Amino acid sequence: MRDRLERDFQRFQREWPRAFPDHVRDTYRIDLTARCLGETIPHPIGKGSGQLSLNPAQLEDDAAAGLAFTVLKTVIAQDETGGRSMAAWAIHETRMKLERRPAADGRPGWSVTWKGRGWDRSLEQYLALVRAGREFTRAGTLLVVPSVKYHLPRLDEPFRDAEYRYTTERLAGAWGEPPLLLEQDFSPTLAGDSLAQDRAQILRWLREAPGRIRAAAPLPVRIAVKLMNARFDDGFQVAMMDATTADTLVCFNRLFDAERKVAYGGWDLSARNLRVLDRWTSATPGLRPGSEPGLCGTGNICSGRMILEYARRGCESVQLHTFFQLPLSEYPAARGARTQRALHALVFHPRDGLIAGLLELETQGKLGRQGGLLRFLDIAAHAHCPG
Ligand SMILES: Cc1cc2nc3c(=O)[nH]c(=O)nc-3n(C[C@H](O)[C@H](O)[C@H](O)COP(=O)(O)O)c2cc1C
Repeated sequence: MRDRLERDFQRFQREWPRAFPDHVRDTYRIDLTARCLGETIPHPIGKGSGQLSLNPAQLEDDAAAGLAFTVLKTVIAQDETGGRSMAAWAIHETRMKLERRPAADGRPGWSVTWKGRGWDRSLEQYLALVRAGREFTRAGTLLVVPSVKYHLPRLDEPFRDAEYRYTTERLAGAWGEPPLLLEQDFSPTLAGDSLAQDRAQILRWLREAPGRIRAAAPLPVRIAVKLMNARFDDGFQVAMMDATTADTLVCFNRLFDAERKVAYGGWDLSARNLRVLDRWTSATPGLRPGSEPGLCGTGNICSGRMILEYARRGCESVQLHTFFQLPLSEYPAARGARTQRALHALVFHPRDGLIAGLLELETQGKLGRQGGLLRFLDIAAHAHCPG
């Protein structure tokens, strides 16, 4: 198996098999099937919302590479008059800077520094992108999910239902057949905003906002909430997970650097996220995969091994951003679009890839075969088992 993996790693640097999950099943008897927002997907690796899902050309590359899913850039909700209470998140900024960001323990990691926020074009343009995404999903080449930032009131204010209603109806119109899948974003810049300095206020958003979206949707809807890393302790992060009434939790968006006023990632982000997920899974024994809420991991995922760290804590899929933005010299494959090169490293790297990590779990007796297959989803299934 190890020799075979080494050979595949070399070979796929030159000729990438889009249907790599089939190859992995046939060759290694490993089933990479994963789950995202209740949908079955061929493997766990997707793209997080951001600057890499702004146009159909990016979706085309993702579909061609065989990515499992892409979350579109976050659009800011509006009412029928164009009013947007969260308009401060719709600012235009194009410059991104990839930086080496050392973690608190000194480990060098990557982080993208960027001053922008949400989608800065019109809702009509966003709906056109959603429609383009639906074509890929219907063709079975890429699951594409929109992302929205909705109004979040102060404790003594009501939710602006007109914004929930208008935006959700328009998205449902562009989407077509039910169920509508969507992600609600609670971003790191929100975590740094005065709105998010009150714990009771945040918990109310998480309890009530999914219900507002469901009430606003003309179709059945499945909602993922992308939780921010609030600027409180780990215990509050767990309380946020417990409070939300969404179908899936995306854990967790980037940290906020209050001094530089920018979001950041790297090893501090994954350390925090994994620590909180540990606490949550051990506090919820007996929860089964496929039961709600499903978990999707995000944050400093730069190897197959890191995917498995999130999976061991209950995540049934993962969404990455920074790893798709590295300098080309950082990927072992010397050709192909970035998404393809990233998938090659994440899945086939002989030491740190997903296959190597899964085979190692088998050797260590931590993951058994079912019907001859090692199954990725069995890892998340074990996350909630006591001990
Ligand atoms: C430049 C940039 C823009 C982003 N924009 C959004 C966004 O609009 N909505 C959102 O939910 N997440 C956004 N994110 C967060 C990513 O989707 C991802 O969850 C986060 O960066 C953690 O993953 P990573 O460590 O792989 O980058 C953005 C991240 C970056 C780096």
